[in-house]
Amino acid sequence: MAIAFESLYSDCAGRCGKLTVGKKTIKTPALLPVINPHLQLVTPKEMQQMGVEALITNAYIFSQSNQFRARALEEGLHKVLDFDGVIMTDSGSFQLSVYGQVAITNTETLSFQRDIGSDIWVPLDIPTSPAADRETTERELAVTLQRLTEAKEVFGSDAPIAGPVQGGIFEDLREFSGLKVTELGFSFCAIGAVVPLMESYRYRDLVKVVMAAKRTISPSACVHLFGAGHPSMFALATAMGCDLFDSAAYALYAKDGRYLTAHGSYRIEELADLPCACSVCRSNTAEELRSAPDRERLLALHNLYVTLAEISRIRQAIVDGTLWELVDERCRGHPQLLSGYRALLGYAPVLAEHDRVSKRRFFYRGDESCRRTEVLRYQQQLARLRLGKSVLVVIDGKSTEGYDDTLFFRPPFGPYPAELRETFPIGPCELPEWDDAMVRQGCRGIRALADSHPGSRIVLSCSPVWAGFIRQELGDMETADDAV
Ligand code: GUN
Ligand code: ZN
Repeated sequence: MAIAFESLYSDCAGRCGKLTVGKKTIKTPALLPVINPHLQLVTPKEMQQMGVEALITNAYIFSQSNQFRARALEEGLHKVLDFDGVIMTDSGSFQLSVYGQVAITNTETLSFQRDIGSDIWVPLDIPTSPAADRETTERELAVTLQRLTEAKEVFGSDAPIAGPVQGGIFEDLREFSGLKVTELGFSFCAIGAVVPLMESYRYRDLVKVVMAAKRTISPSACVHLFGAGHPSMFALATAMGCDLFDSAAYALYAKDGRYLTAHGSYRIEELADLPCACSVCRSNTAEELRSAPDRERLLALHNLYVTLAEISRIRQAIVDGTLWELVDERCRGHPQLLSGYRALLGYAPVLAEHDRVSKRRFFYRGDESCRRTEVLRYQQQLARLRLGKSVLVVIDGKSTEGYDDTLFFRPPFGPYPAELRETFPIGPCELPEWDDAMVRQGCRGIRALADSHPGSRIVLSCSPVWAGFIRQELGDMETADDAV
């Protein structure tokens, strides 16, 4: 197969893996910086030295350019761009979405992408606007799917072609689109037409459409998120199972005098200091950066460093099993990201099915942490505990003799037997002082335990500190005070 993906570590639905295209292999998650051949603030060669393994450029620009067309066909894209990593080419669909038409057909753009030696080709899909009504969205999706079918027929099942997933804002159409792309045999899927959602901070809708597409895309496929975006949303997108991002943000923001950080951006005029470890920021003051003659290029370099560092941080978080913490941290950078994060937590039941069993740690970061996959999974697994006829759950009270089993209590998870004290998630869980949300969630664990063990009499032991609260949550259950 021309394109193959292998996942090596996973956390939530996020993967850390390897994408192999022909003879080249890159690490994922990966950032593919967007290269405009006419305007290179940072050259592909420099990017390679910064650790970039893959980039994306627009085949349509090459095909329409007097300066580049013939050279690309004769010398190949890698020579023209002076980059020997993976090069993905987009088809002109973006121009289609902006100008309404393009002077090229689906098979023409794919042939051109093949002839200039691109590593990953993109068919001429139609990026349907999120504002489009259902009828338009369905009609455009049908055209996209017809073009994907044509791509497979004309270029063969092994050609390195990406399968764009469209369907606008309609979840069932995204699901249908993912299913068709998978049935057509695409091992590289690209979720499209999400740029307008990200530009207007509609992260909640982004989560909905990506999760809908992910429901039907094969788990073994590599998933590209077209046109994403600002580094502050990479962790969220990765947690949903997106593996590749192509971003022009480093250059677009630089042109606009904006300085990226992983949790938001600044106008360069606002900066009193440069809060970054990259070489640009360590060798310039904020004032020097503002007045530098090559300020746009310096900003682009910094923006790219920040973006690449965020990808590295995400990879490390996946290996550690701390991706939820990173998502939590990043999504507090903007209220609409927080909204997207909360929407993603709504998918915890689906995500929990694929989440891994053990992680390095669990840091409690407030209410949202109560809804994480690890909590859900733990509470589902309480049904597997083998218990005797009488069970004491020591919440924060005294442990007394006379019960068949004694369990302890760790919010937000719930009851646990002593044997699990050191294992994930009970052992490596770090909590501040108990708060209502975590104790309430822990009580749900006790409830799940009681419901799954109808033959056991569950008795609670708590101190006066939490007794009132516990009575509110589990008022129908017996407490040790009642028992004496
Ligand atoms: N770039 C940003 N969004 C899209 C999309 O939906 N399709 C293609 N081909 N390129 C894009
Ligand atoms: Zn910097």
